[in-house]
Amino acid sequence: MDERLHDLAAIEDAVWHELGRSTDSAHDWHVGVLATTDGQRADARSVVLREVEPAAHSLIVYTDARSPKVEHVQDHPEGVLVLWSASRGWQLRLHVHITVETSGLGVWSRWAKLMMTPAAQDYLSPLPPGSRIVKPVPERGTRAHFAMMTMRVDALDWLELHPEGQRRALFDAEGGHWLAP
Ligand SMILES: Cc1cc2nc3c(=O)[nH]c(=O)nc-3n(C[C@H](O)[C@H](O)[C@H](O)COP(=O)(O)O)c2cc1C
Repeated sequence: MDERLHDLAAIEDAVWHELGRSTDSAHDWHVGVLATTDGQRADARSVVLREVEPAAHSLIVYTDARSPKVEHVQDHPEGVLVLWSASRGWQLRLHVHITVETSGLGVWSRWAKLMMTPAAQDYLSPLPPGSRIVKPVPERGTRAHFAMMTMRVDALDWLELHPEGQRRALFDAEGGHWLAP
């Protein structure tokens, strides 16, 4: 494990540096768990971090525009993305404001790249995610239902597990603060 950082600003920088590397499929934070709500029930699911912009504090994931999480976000745009890095002993709870785009230049340029790859089939199902079906056989349609979810990080709750003791800090619009773990 790297030497322990003691300064809040250095910890925040290191967290964003790591997040910037998480689009690599080998990174511990490449797949996270995103929790959303429909206002009555919470739900959570794994998502892949496709793009991270540390300077803008924003993260992008791709999804099917018809998926329940997209419906959640339309009325309840606040979600939480949880990431765990076993190699660093760091948990992040990112409090995010989520926006969904299904058209426009940003969406089309990303889909144009993705449609050439095997991952394109994730967005070509004729049925919305979660539809009841008789047999679990993948069906492939021709119409794409690609959507891009942009998550703006409003607060970042960092927890470090360490043999010398746990530490926790919150980074938000007011700056960085230590918290009792
Ligand atoms: C490792 C892993 C990565 C996943 N990545 C994504 C993703 O990037 N985007 C996505 O929409 N679903 C992804 N899924 C599927 C979701 O976890 C979920 O099953 C699906 O999106 C339906 O979620 P919803 O019904 O809550 O909308 C992934 C699943 C796994 C196991």
